Amino acid sequence: MKPPIVLSRGKLSYLVEKFEGELHTHHGVIKLEELKGKSFGDTIATHLGVEFKIIPFKLAEFFKHFKRGATPLMPKDIGAIIALTSLSPDSMIFDAGTGSGMLAAYLAYFNKFGEVLTVEKRKDFAMIAKRNFKIAGLKNIHQVIGDALFVADGLKKEFDLVVLDMKDDVAFIPKAKKMLRVGGYIAIYNPYIESARNVYEELRKNDFRELEAFEILKIDLDIKRVGTRTSTTTWHTGYIVIGRKY
Ligand SMILES: C[S@@+](CC[C@H](N)C(=O)[O-])C[C@H]1O[C@@H](n2cnc3c(N)ncnc32)[C@H](O)[C@@H]1O
Repeated sequence: MKPPIVLSRGKLSYLVEKFEGELHTHHGVIKLEELKGKSFGDTIATHLGVEFKIIPFKLAEFFKHFKRGATPLMPKDIGAIIALTSLSPDSMIFDAGTGSGMLAAYLAYFNKFGEVLTVEKRKDFAMIAKRNFKIAGLKNIHQVIGDALFVADGLKKEFDLVVLDMKDDVAFIPKAKKMLRVGGYIAIYNPYIESARNVYEELRKNDFRELEAFEILKIDLDIKRVGTRTSTTTWHTGYIVIGRKY
């Protein structure tokens, strides 16, 4: 067993990046050296005797444990983008802006033999994302710091997928049309309906096909002893517009 690993107890979970030093939990302190002789499924106790289960760091942990700079996309929206843009494991993907790197990381994970080129204009955010990619062990992400609108002009490669979660997305659309292979997809995320509509109209103007605009709602259930009901938390995030070049 090697780091990173996760220590889990009910809804609490901690990411452990090295087996040295101390971890201060809500239930006391864990000496991380003690993890050295252990295996997944074992437990480790805090100095107060409270036990945590040792589990592997997997894809679903990205969202729980990644450091955050800019607001990341949520798995529900990332899942829709992956499923509806025909992602295959040897794709060339252009992602702007990187933000916390959440979308780029999920795309890279499912794109083992391809590459994700991700562009972020803020260096501080790019550094946070870099750390997240390292924790996740992802080596197929190439980061560029700069304005995606300018970076795109210097690119010679063709892409299978362009994903935009940034300002200036409308201005980027004609560039995306040039960058994409025939049959390639563009997916654009926006927190506001008006912006999603502008994007949709620009995609139509640029002759993108198979256009769709939608919102993914995740409705959690509260499962309690007295009964089960829809959670009062609403998971609204934003709107996704997808188009295809051909
Ligand atoms: C909402 S965040 C992206 C979050 C990211 N998709 C994730 O899942 O973590 C938007 C990011 O776009 C960046 N951005 C805005 N305009 C940009 C541009 N023209 N070029 C590159 N990055 C840009 C912002 O600095 C910000 O970090």
